[in-house]
Amino acid sequence: MPSYVIAGVARGIGYEFLRQISSDPNNTVIGTVRNKAETSKKVSEDADLKDRSNIHLLEAELTNYEALKRAAEDTAKITGGSLDYLVASAAYVSQFDAYDSIGVLGTNKPQELEDDLKKAFDINVVAVIHLYNLFMPLILKGQAKKVVAISTGMADAELVNKYEVGMGPLYAISKTALNMVVAKFNAQYKKDGVLFLGISPGVVDTGNFANATEDQLKSMGGMMQKFVEYAPHFAGPITPEESVRAVRSVWEKATVQENGGDFISHYGTKQWL
Ligand SMILES: NC(=O)c1ccc[n+]([C@@H]2O[C@H](COP(=O)([O-])OP(=O)(O)OC[C@H]3O[C@@H](n4cnc5c(N)ncnc54)[C@H](OP(=O)(O)O)[C@@H]3O)[C@@H](O)[C@H]2O)c1
Repeated sequence: MPSYVIAGVARGIGYEFLRQISSDPNNTVIGTVRNKAETSKKVSEDADLKDRSNIHLLEAELTNYEALKRAAEDTAKITGGSLDYLVASAAYVSQFDAYDSIGVLGTNKPQELEDDLKKAFDINVVAVIHLYNLFMPLILKGQAKKVVAISTGMADAELVNKYEVGMGPLYAISKTALNMVVAKFNAQYKKDGVLFLGISPGVVDTGNFANATEDQLKSMGGMMQKFVEYAPHFAGPITPEESVRAVRSVWEKATVQENGGDFISHYGTKQWL
């Protein structure tokens, strides 16, 4: 009976993890959300999910250490004290920096830049460190021992340099730090057989750009052109369904010895698109 904790299942890629993994009744899937009542309602109205008794929702704001601690305690009660897979999917995907370069933001909005970067660090980096530490006793007692962080190809400095990807600087900085979190946990726990892995899900349509203005869409178009230059096969964002299937297959194939601490894509390589 493999057990999973997925942090951030209220929507987007996280919700798709919940959907796919719970489709096997042998899996126990525990999803953390910020508003349990809201997500319980969403699940109860979802024709596929509503009758799945292997879904458990726990309420936890990721930046609230006590809430995360409670989530770990409640998980232990559900699983009997162990955990096979832990996936940090929740993230602060900033709209503030989504369409601008670092110099533009820093010149026009220095205080907002500072606030947004700190927020990104709190959620995308510090909260993941606490999440991992609080769930480690359970993971060490699990069978699979796989801990995954959903990262992004935007945090690959080589890609940023080669294609001059200026957009999303603060988000990318926080995810680069997240990749080092993965490496540092690997450095500590590889000897215990725990796989820590950062996986980029590709460019996925989760509605994050639905409210973009015309100017913002223009910047977005420029970036999409760079994406096509980088990956001529790129035909636009993939669906959460495709992305999650690919990401799960990557973590299933990955081993501690070969991939411990890595940052790879949904293809299992350094090809991000
Ligand atoms: N979509 C893409 O193209 C793409 C590309 C590369 C990487 N990623 C990564 O993939 C993951 C999922 O992305 P997505 O597109 O599905 O994002 P999304 O639709 O913006 O969903 C983000 C999720 O994170 C949760 N969350 C945000 N801040 C939180 C906090 N402080 N505490 C607890 N939960 C919090 C949100 O909860 P609420 O519903 O309560 O706000 C939501 O469930 C993220 O790590 C993202 O960086 C996405």
